[in-house]
Amino acid sequence: MKLPFVLPILGLAVTSSAIPYERYILAPKSRTLHPVLVHSSNGSVTSPQSLTMSSAGNTTSTFQGEAATALDFGINIAGIISLDIAAVSDADQYIGVTFSESSLWISNATSDATADSGDDEILWFHVNAPGRYTAPREKERGAFRYVTLVHNGTGSVEIGSIEVHYTAMPHWQDDAIGNYTGWFNCDDELLNRIWYAGAYTNQICTIDPAYGNALVLFGTEPSSGVPTPWYNNATITNGTSALVDGAKRDRLVWAGDMAIAVPGVVVSTNDVISIENSLDALFDQQNTTTGQLPYAGQPFPFMLSFTYHLYTLIGVADHYLYTGDIAYLTSLWSKWKFALSLSLSYIDSTGLMNITSPNDWLRFGMGGHNIEANAILYYTINQGIHLATVLNDTAPIANWTSSAEQIKAAANDLLWVAEEGMYRDNETTTLMPQDGNSWVVVANLTANSSQIEQISRNLAQRWTPYGAPAPEAADAISPFISGFELQAHFLAANTTAAIALMRLQWGFMMDDPRMTNSTLLEGYSTTGELHYAPYKNDARISHAHGWATGPTYSLTFYVAGIQLLSAGGKTWRIAPELGDLKHVDAGFSTSVGFFGARTEISDGRLEVKFETPKGTSGEVKIPLLACKGRAVVQELEGRCGDVVLEIAEADVGSVTVADVEGGKYQVTFACAS
Ligand SMILES: *[C@@H]1O[C@H](CO)[C@@H](O)[C@H](O)[C@H]1NC(C)=O
Ligand SMILES: *[C@@H]1O[C@H](CO)[C@@H](O)[C@H](O)[C@H]1NC(C)=O
Ligand SMILES: *[C@@H]1O[C@H](CO)[C@@H](O)[C@H](O)[C@H]1NC(C)=O
Ligand SMILES: *[C@@H]1O[C@H](CO)[C@@H](O)[C@H](O)[C@H]1NC(C)=O
Ligand SMILES: *[C@@H]1O[C@H](CO)[C@@H](O)[C@H](O)[C@H]1NC(C)=O
Ligand SMILES: *[C@@H]1O[C@H](CO)[C@@H](O)[C@H](O)[C@H]1NC(C)=O
Ligand SMILES: *[C@@H]1O[C@H](CO)[C@@H](O)[C@H](O)[C@H]1NC(C)=O
Ligand SMILES: *[C@@H]1O[C@H](CO)[C@@H](O)[C@H](O)[C@H]1NC(C)=O
Ligand SMILES: *[C@@H]1O[C@H](CO)[C@@H](O)[C@H](O)[C@H]1NC(C)=O
Ligand SMILES: *[C@@H]1O[C@H](CO)[C@@H](O)[C@H](O)[C@H]1NC(C)=O
Ligand SMILES: *[C@@H]1O[C@H](CO)[C@@H](O)[C@H](O)[C@H]1NC(C)=O
Ligand SMILES: *[C@@H]1O[C@H](CO)[C@@H](O)[C@H](O)[C@H]1NC(C)=O
Repeated sequence: MKLPFVLPILGLAVTSSAIPYERYILAPKSRTLHPVLVHSSNGSVTSPQSLTMSSAGNTTSTFQGEAATALDFGINIAGIISLDIAAVSDADQYIGVTFSESSLWISNATSDATADSGDDEILWFHVNAPGRYTAPREKERGAFRYVTLVHNGTGSVEIGSIEVHYTAMPHWQDDAIGNYTGWFNCDDELLNRIWYAGAYTNQICTIDPAYGNALVLFGTEPSSGVPTPWYNNATITNGTSALVDGAKRDRLVWAGDMAIAVPGVVVSTNDVISIENSLDALFDQQNTTTGQLPYAGQPFPFMLSFTYHLYTLIGVADHYLYTGDIAYLTSLWSKWKFALSLSLSYIDSTGLMNITSPNDWLRFGMGGHNIEANAILYYTINQGIHLATVLNDTAPIANWTSSAEQIKAAANDLLWVAEEGMYRDNETTTLMPQDGNSWVVVANLTANSSQIEQISRNLAQRWTPYGAPAPEAADAISPFISGFELQAHFLAANTTAAIALMRLQWGFMMDDPRMTNSTLLEGYSTTGELHYAPYKNDARISHAHGWATGPTYSLTFYVAGIQLLSAGGKTWRIAPELGDLKHVDAGFSTSVGFFGARTEISDGRLEVKFETPKGTSGEVKIPLLACKGRAVVQELEGRCGDVVLEIAEADVGSVTVADVEGGKYQVTFACAS
């Protein structure tokens, strides 16, 4: 049966030269950056605005005596600072530079912090004559929105300009840092900005691996208040780019952080090489006697974290899911199995893994039969079963399958608290953690779907005006763990809660004046203070942390509904869930090809146009409107006939059409009139 109306021209295809929704992309168009605004000045500084891009008329700024000017780059950036000095009163002149991500830590004495004990040292330039002064490469700063120029003592310095050479995304062409392979757009501007801030946060966390954090003071920080020396000159991976946890700090490879960052990278820039360099660095450090993987990449001291050990394995499974690259998977497979066997060796007679090291995402009380760690183990084993099947390596599957079944049975028996509708942290506590309860849903450790609904509802009831709390980390809000909570709400079919949490928590991070308004932060308090429970020093908080970018992939996978199910998208699912939105358009490319979906809802009518690569296959889950009507799936290149579904009852929810070949489709659902 044919539809009674004429189809509009398909709008999905884009010409290769234009980047869709480019206006939202925060990545700089050139590596040479200048401040955009004067934030504040102190003492005698003539026309500080001449140091900004928009300066007109005055070309220099003179600092006389004790004086300072704070300059604003508009967004969080990263790089090497240069000063053009036009004149000095004598050879005994100095200009100091301090950096800060947040406006809270703008200072003429110190930068914001990379250590817990004190704020970071000022960077001094001895400007004894006119000329250009450039910071040494080990003094590149990983992230800052504000720079303060400080003149101390007597005499004067005339500054012609200040410039930053942008160093993030080192392996991408200077004028193409914003050439994204993916996009997202919907009828909520806040969500659009959050998606692009996530994409940009992951870019600023992609660094030249020769300039990671040297951790010069690790474990030997001076007593409080003493400015801390800092150097970014440790080699952290091979290759020419690496994905790290945070841009200012740690500037190290952390596998847990990657669990959120990697899918965000895939849907925006598909920068797979940086992911590989980071994963390889972790596997290069594997202990060949025990199989143990590092908590974090070098130069961080080698130690055991039950969860980060597993996250490294999840990184490999994710790499395969998003690339389909069998050769890369094969290169790490024996190390992968060795590492999993170490985790399995900690399973005791209860069937659960007994955690004997507290290292995790800096939550407290990680130990014993912890629910989060066991959910992550359950998830990892199931990823392993899938990978072993792909590789035809059937030997470990029986053992892994029964290990997983035992974990599931024991976790539900020992840790599910029916009266609370949540899992407890371990058998000896009443604390119901955000991390464990989010992860059980993500991992499918729950025994039934009623548990998933209860967890979603109960987590949402705990939100403060600033977001979802993580009671396992005292009064913290963790944008990391909240990324898994978002996923839990989507898996519970609670799209309303997921979108509400994005607006609440990520909206706060986007718009609060203490934020960079461009990148997403590591953590803060349940009261909205920029205090993060694991740290003494609030200036230490990273304002650009890849682990905070959960909405970027969630919006693409669950709201736009483009899901890769295997091998870079050989199989896929299109399942849009718009919540209260009326329009969503997203797309991204993997090595398998381009995936896109655009959904529009108007009075009594829903339309999804989607595109998947030829040679792939999948299913489309059509979200129905709450009415009787007709759903039609039409292949737009005329290769096969329409699928027509008569929906005879209202409130059916959705219908799924399986065995759909890759191609261009239009799906409509229209209410019966
Ligand atoms: C140039 O500097 C002078 C003296 O500080 C100031 O009065 C004037 O407003 C400045 N002009 C511009 C365009 O910045
Ligand atoms: C730095 O700030 C302090 C406090 O506002 C002020 O007393 C001092 O003069 C400033 N120093 C410089 C070099 O501007
Ligand atoms: C200014 O700071 C530099 C670098 O710390 C220092 O060597 C110099 O003595 C200071 N000048 C004055 C006048 O304090
Ligand atoms: C980056 O995108 C711009 C369009 O915005 C295009 O002109 C340019 O050629 C692209 N550069 C590369 C290296 O792809
Ligand atoms: C980092 O730079 C500092 C200061 O130049 C130097 O002392 C140190 O040896 C460098 N470290 C590395 C790993 O290159
Ligand atoms: C670079 O690769 C070599 C050879 O695999 C390895 O030994 C070394 O640890 C790697 N370096 C880093 C920083 O990961
Ligand atoms: C690997 O672990 C074993 C057992 O704990 C330990 O003795 C050995 O020193 C470790 N190897 C390295 C290279 O750290
Ligand atoms: C059990 O969980 C509580 C709450 O997180 C924690 O305080 C306690 O240390 C945990 N027990 C063990 C053995 O780690
Ligand atoms: C976990 O192992 C440790 C060290 O062997 C042991 O002391 C502790 O009792 C075990 N915890 C549980 C919950 O069995
Ligand atoms: C696994 O076996 C299948 C069927 O024999 C084969 O097509 C496939 O290439 C094998 N995969 C690998 C990674 O060897
Ligand atoms: C899996 O294998 C390990 C090591 O051989 C063994 O200790 C464990 O009992 C096995 N687990 C199951 C559930 O079969
Ligand atoms: C979740 O686990 C159950 C077995 O406990 C399985 O039947 C079900 O298919 C799993 N769901 C998903 C989405 O993998």
